Amino acid sequence: MFDCGNEELNDWLVRYAGQAMAARDAVVYLLHEDREILGYFTLSAGSCSRHEASLRVGKRAPDPVPMILLGRMGVDLGHQGQGLGFEIIRQALKRALSSAGAIGARGILLHAIDDSAQQFYAHLGFEESPVARQMMISFAELAETLGSIE
Ligand SMILES: CC(C)(COP(=O)(O)OP(=O)(O)OC[C@H]1O[C@@H](n2cnc3c(N)ncnc32)[C@H](O)[C@@H]1OP(=O)(O)O)[C@@H](O)C(=O)NCCC(=O)NCCS
Repeated sequence: MFDCGNEELNDWLVRYAGQAMAARDAVVYLLHEDREILGYFTLSAGSCSRHEASLRVGKRAPDPVPMILLGRMGVDLGHQGQGLGFEIIRQALKRALSSAGAIGARGILLHAIDDSAQQFYAHLGFEESPVARQMMISFAELAETLGSIE
């Protein structure tokens, strides 16, 4: 059974991921090996008001700023520390960038679930905003941070 160490994120995957997909509220992506789920993440359309954006994302942006929301995500405890969290961000960027080719968006927005998650995202280059635990990064900056996404 998938366990990323956070009950809320574990529970959501089992109980609500299917409903969210059916209602098109989110697309849920699984990283798996055979039938074992190693990690998951979700993407949805989103936005943030310009005064709640980070300086770089908000610069010369419309209000609200169109963004792609990286929602719930986690890596199974038995597979943490092996680069899968980074791989999830890389996969999320790839899919978000492809979506932003069809519907405009400036970057990726997320809400870190706790301090540890916030540190993880900060480590990968996500910037803080005036709203606690709301973090974001423009596609231009993400490409610099993560290198080639191909
Ligand atoms: C946060 C989480 C996704 C990280 O996954 P992971 O597979 O262990 O991360 P990786 O092995 O890919 O680490 C990538 C980099 O981030 C760093 N990192 C990992 N967790 C970190 C943390 N909590 N704080 C700071 N840096 C962290 C790693 O040291 C690594 O750095 P490096 O590339 O410079 O060596 C995972 O710990 C998790 O699922 N946590 C519980 C659920 C959660 O918090 N989800 C986020 C919801 S908003």
